[in-house]
Amino acid sequence: MRYITFALAKGRLAKETMALLSKIGINCEEMEDKTTRKLLFVNEELKCQFFLAKGPDVPTYVEYGAADIGVVGKDTILEEDRKCYEVLDLGFGKCRMCVCGPKDAEELLKHHEMIKVATKYPKIAKDYFYNKKHQTVDIIKLNGSVELAPIVGLSHVIVDIVETGSTLRENGLQVLEEVCPLSARMIVNRVSMRMEYERINEIILKIKKELS
Ligand code: PRP
Repeated sequence: MRYITFALAKGRLAKETMALLSKIGINCEEMEDKTTRKLLFVNEELKCQFFLAKGPDVPTYVEYGAADIGVVGKDTILEEDRKCYEVLDLGFGKCRMCVCGPKDAEELLKHHEMIKVATKYPKIAKDYFYNKKHQTVDIIKLNGSVELAPIVGLSHVIVDIVETGSTLRENGLQVLEEVCPLSARMIVNRVSMRMEYERINEIILKIKKELS
């Protein structure tokens, strides 16, 4: 039997995923050693292996079949736009993709002005402004701490993830528009879905049952 390989987005999502998987009998003892520098973890008995990757790389591993299954945020799935099946909403990692800014930027969104939008998610931002709002904007790609942009005058607004809203509040910004809700999703390689249908479908069904 060949291994079923899981690619997990490093950090909190990976921890929550392993907790969920352990409830359906899929675990990996090797992974619990926090001091290890190992990258690939195996459960020989279950013929499963697991690796942790940077979130945006998870859909890439899954598209190319280096991983059969991936768990990553919907934000990353939308932004990376890779060819794979999204099979489950895992219900954790819930947050929202929003257009945010100072209160006075609200007016700029109403009148289709040519504004500057800073974001880690240029594809999502472009899709929202161009295709949904039909507003031409200047999108500026950043790599993090995006809330800084309107404060220091790099952009009028941002498109970013809002979870508790405390980063916005502490920086004098607010949600101006909601782009879409987000949460952790399970994705599957398109060929694996056919070739390993039984094993993968069993995992999906067990998780669905666990979540219901
Ligand atoms: C994310 C996001 C916001 C913040 C939202 O940033 O980009 O900045 O969390 O959370 P809150 O609504 O609970 O305050 P992250 O911590 O991932 O770091 P980053 O700024 O480097 O992207």
